Amino acid sequence: MARILITSAIPYINGIKHLGNLVGSQLPADLFARFNRAMGHEVMFICATDEHGTPAELAAAKAGQPVAEYCAEMHKVQAELAKGFRLSFDHFGRSSSQRNHVLTQHFAGKLADNGLIREVSEKMIFSIDDNRFLPDRYIEGTCPNCGYDSARGDQCDNCTKQLDPTDLINPHSTISGSTNLEVRETKHLYLMQRALKDKLEAWIDSKTDWPILTTSIAKKWLNDGDGLQDRGITRDLHWGIPVMKGDQPWPGMEGKVFYVWFDAPIEYIAGTAEWADANGKADADWERWWRTDKGAHDVTYYQFMGKDNVPFHTLSFPATILGSGEPWKLVDYLKSFNYLNYDGGQFSTSRGRGVFMDQALSILPSDYWRWWLLSHAPESSDSEFTWENFQASVNKDLADVLGNLVSRVTKFCVSKFGAEVPAGGAFSEQEHRLIEELGTRITDYAACMQAMEVRKASAELRAIWVIGNEYLQAAAPWTVVKTDPERAQAMIRLSLNLIRVYAILSAPFIPDAAATMMAAIDSDDWTWPTDVAAAMTALPAGHAFTVPENLFRKITDEERADWQARFAGVRT
Ligand code: 2FM
Ligand code: ZN
Repeated sequence: MARILITSAIPYINGIKHLGNLVGSQLPADLFARFNRAMGHEVMFICATDEHGTPAELAAAKAGQPVAEYCAEMHKVQAELAKGFRLSFDHFGRSSSQRNHVLTQHFAGKLADNGLIREVSEKMIFSIDDNRFLPDRYIEGTCPNCGYDSARGDQCDNCTKQLDPTDLINPHSTISGSTNLEVRETKHLYLMQRALKDKLEAWIDSKTDWPILTTSIAKKWLNDGDGLQDRGITRDLHWGIPVMKGDQPWPGMEGKVFYVWFDAPIEYIAGTAEWADANGKADADWERWWRTDKGAHDVTYYQFMGKDNVPFHTLSFPATILGSGEPWKLVDYLKSFNYLNYDGGQFSTSRGRGVFMDQALSILPSDYWRWWLLSHAPESSDSEFTWENFQASVNKDLADVLGNLVSRVTKFCVSKFGAEVPAGGAFSEQEHRLIEELGTRITDYAACMQAMEVRKASAELRAIWVIGNEYLQAAAPWTVVKTDPERAQAMIRLSLNLIRVYAILSAPFIPDAAATMMAAIDSDDWTWPTDVAAAMTALPAGHAFTVPENLFRKITDEERADWQARFAGVRT
């Protein structure tokens, strides 16, 4: 049994996430967590809300709420939606937790002890009309790298380049829109990433199995311009983690907080500590996931994120970990995603364009979305959500292929032989061929899942459903029953067992439908079908079952048109 640590990029607190956010991190991380649990591994799956920084402050101001109150509320909303999408986190933490305060201050203290922090008297942009400094998202302008005109002070959304507010061309305040700005001196702490460049480079070079998307972004920023830049890790903001050196005050840094991107990834660790607190566990119980000197040497750590997050996870966060000089776990495999677009444009939180998590669940159960999103995950390139494609894929894959098989088999059995697994006949060549083919396909499917090839895995699963249908079509028990009822019974016995096997295989993608199938077949044996022949006889003759409710309904053309129109506009 292996020990698998999984973290998904932690979503910003500012509002409900859209389906593009979901498919770029949390959902594939959930797929992988569920698969690894099904394989019998010990899994720790952590996510949280990313609560500091300007996005939180701006959103709270817009909502007219104190920022702490706004974050507490939005955390609950996001936690509920995560449940709605069946995201199986072991813990969904908060980057504003006490645990994260202590750990973030701890890391900063260690970095300082190791000579990796320097104080910089920095020229920052001060807005005269707003009477405050304008860090990060409080300022926008044109990207000096690609010319995008809405680049933020900390990063360009278009080309992913990390920026400083003073880099922007034609900057303006996002609070007031004012361009009445001046440059003023303020003192900040810088993490000396340049000093860690060789270590970082060697570490990245050792990751020969990482996806190209991940490595290419990491290398690009490692060698960007004149190389890796030292980064400011403090800000002139009120909301955030106060700048302290461990538990000691940091002279000259009074009233400042750590930069959100410094504390956010540390929340992966803090979130695991929060898990321990929430479950009455000891510190040793979370440390065995994170400290290689305390049991984490045999943990394999996987991170999931969108491509815009890759620089922070391949350079900044590893710089924090390596620079601490302490034996914390570094990521072993970093799975990154391109963007999902929406109906001819981009999903956009700021513009409210696309389908958001709450809206999605208000029109259809989570399995429908999980299936479409995962089977169209933007892995090798950006992908696009269209309502036509969504309708076609739900109606075909879920309703026609999987749902139809389950309902046909159970209904036919009840009407001809009763609501128990029939005893007659024996498996013939036809059944043995199916079992053999299933064996190969399940091996391929598991290999894709293990490799986090999300789209390929979904195609394998679909193929597994299809061969069951083809078998049933060719065997035609509804015809055979007229001349050879015993033989038809053997076919149905196999098919009922197939439903249980499908429940196990499908559960990482569509957990609710899988649970319905398993309940109908009246079993709770979720053992992965490594031995297919054994799995296909697991339900003995005489085993009672029920006909499940329709697993999936079809999306009508009217619904599709209606949703298309409803979500064409902009959410306010
Ligand atoms: O892009 C985002 O949504 C960020 N909130 C991700 C942070 S991931 C991490 F560092 F914790
Ligand atoms: Zn740019």
